[in-house]
Amino acid sequence: MRSKLDIRRFLPALLLALLAVGCQRESGDPTAVTPTNGPAPAAASDRDEHSYAEPEKVVTEDLALDIALDFDAKTIAGTATYTLQWKDPSATQLVLDTRDLTISKVEGEANGQWQPLQYALAEADATLGSKLTIETPARNAKVRVTYVSSPDASGLQWLTPEMTEGKQLPFMFSQSQQIHARSWVPLQDTPAIRYTYTAHVTSRPDVMVLMSANNDPDAQRTGDYSFTMPQKIPSYLMAIAAGDLVFKPISGRAGVWAEPAMVDRAVAEFADTEKMIEVTEQLYGPYRWERYDLLILPPSFPYGGMENPRLSFITPTVIVGDKSLVSLIAHELAHSWSGNLVTFASAKHGWLNEGFTSYVENRIVESVYGKETSDMEFVIARNALRENIGTMPEATQALAVKPGTELDADDALSAVAYDKGAWFLQFLEQRFGRENFDAFLRGYFDHFAFQSITTEQFVAYAKANLLDKYPDTVTDAEMQEWIYAPGIPSYAPQVMSRNFGIVDSARLAWLGSAQLPPRQITENWSTQEWLHFLDGLPQTLTVEQLAQLDEAYSFTGTDNGEIAMRWYPLAVRSGYTQANEALAAFTARVGRRKLIMPIYTALVQTEPGLALAKQIFEQARPGYHPITTGSVEKLINEAKPTPAPAAPAAPADGAAPASTN
Ligand code: BES
Ligand code: ZN
Repeated sequence: MRSKLDIRRFLPALLLALLAVGCQRESGDPTAVTPTNGPAPAAASDRDEHSYAEPEKVVTEDLALDIALDFDAKTIAGTATYTLQWKDPSATQLVLDTRDLTISKVEGEANGQWQPLQYALAEADATLGSKLTIETPARNAKVRVTYVSSPDASGLQWLTPEMTEGKQLPFMFSQSQQIHARSWVPLQDTPAIRYTYTAHVTSRPDVMVLMSANNDPDAQRTGDYSFTMPQKIPSYLMAIAAGDLVFKPISGRAGVWAEPAMVDRAVAEFADTEKMIEVTEQLYGPYRWERYDLLILPPSFPYGGMENPRLSFITPTVIVGDKSLVSLIAHELAHSWSGNLVTFASAKHGWLNEGFTSYVENRIVESVYGKETSDMEFVIARNALRENIGTMPEATQALAVKPGTELDADDALSAVAYDKGAWFLQFLEQRFGRENFDAFLRGYFDHFAFQSITTEQFVAYAKANLLDKYPDTVTDAEMQEWIYAPGIPSYAPQVMSRNFGIVDSARLAWLGSAQLPPRQITENWSTQEWLHFLDGLPQTLTVEQLAQLDEAYSFTGTDNGEIAMRWYPLAVRSGYTQANEALAAFTARVGRRKLIMPIYTALVQTEPGLALAKQIFEQARPGYHPITTGSVEKLINEAKPTPAPAAPAAPADGAAPASTN
């Protein structure tokens, strides 16, 4: 990508003048229409390489959508109107990101009149989509694009009634992060640009429509809905959902939207949401988005949660009846500060969103559920990171890539961004003391509120307000090592969990003696303790060992996805085929990538496993989200299976991996 971008700057002006003649669909090099006039683009390190937008020339200040949802055609059709602020006095083009959109008209407003504008839609780039270049010689303050999305839009899923809980009405939802907003709205799809939005949405009248905006808990189903989002947001936070959705309150400002059959269970599971908002406000200042509601999606939602402002999108797989997986809510809520208020300027700086959020999530869990719970969750994440980081390419082990370094969009948000990021902030907290560090973070959120920033801006702010303010506490070199070096610094703080010590002993004893821990020990284990028990098991066990565990703890068929994503891969690796039926049912029903990719990954290692993976995928595919379909398809296509199932070797004299606490 980078070389193409550089080449564009040197294209002869003549060629550009020729290309400035608008046409419906351009077949040539999509990069060829970028102008060379105006000042040099921002330094390469500041550019968001996942967007064609040119924020140094013109930015969207407001977006007004007027769209119709068509469940039969599986399309969103209508207009997007941009209020623009022109930055570069010589700029005369507006460049938007699109993916699989059909554009039928582009107009500019001049003297109160809409006039057609010439435009070119470039051929699609597999990663970035199609660049839409609009000729705006008058540098119009408003531009309007008429478009329709594709039924296969990468950022939308359309579900038939049979695929929903209630089976009566269809359902649809968006997932815009990282770069899928452009598949349902043409826009400047970079988090570097923030704008307000309004939307007028029509749909069949029997579904409720919600957006990442001012949803009205008392809204009636009319088929005609209006929304405003008065705070400036980045494009990846554009969100829409529609279906048989009803509302139940948790508190005066928080509540749940869900299908009727689900809503009471969700309200009970997430009853602590108001408490979470309050503790976060105490730590980091007021919640600035008015309402905070949760939307419970069908199980095909490809993520655990998505922090769409005012309306977090939540997988139903965390509703397990005992609140044991509600740190997901703490996480999505935390994004209301880290991410939605202070936003990464591009995916390269992903840790500013996810690392900070994972740290804040852990603080919320500590405040609401106590330190032992937050420590257990921290240790689980840290152990997974420790296990994986060594196998990753060095460049992706750094929290942030040094300015000027290339990184694939899909590599930008790994466990490194989340868990090394959180670990780094925990390190700062320990060194500077909780009181000083809390005050610093609160100041950081205030200072950069409603801005999009880079790692380098964080570093400069931390240096001035932390390192220099409390000298001799953390060196520049230490901060640089955390952020730009691979691996984990040797002086990283080591959280220990008391409970996990017991789990480790129980596991070791069982591996050595086949003696399961006494009921009194395990009967009160939380999900986290079971996860730690499973995480510390050897890669493979004997079929007899798995049968013994299953008999005692009924792992096969579990409703708890976090357990399922650990148990089923172990079953596959160990040749414990008794689990196959339940494994297949779980994997076909749930579309959350994090939970099912480990299962598919274990399956595709062997020929019989690959055959089962293909069979599950074929059955599940119509119900999977495009993001999940893409990941599974890639895994299956690239599989290199061995002929026979991996020999389930008994672990030598009960040896387990070293204690993972
Ligand atoms: N913003 C992310 C989801 C995301 C990240 C979507 C990158 C697309 C690209 C969300 O806040 C998140 O981190 N979700 C996690 C939750 C978990 C860490 C508690 C998930 O979905 O598993
Ligand atoms: Zn997140």
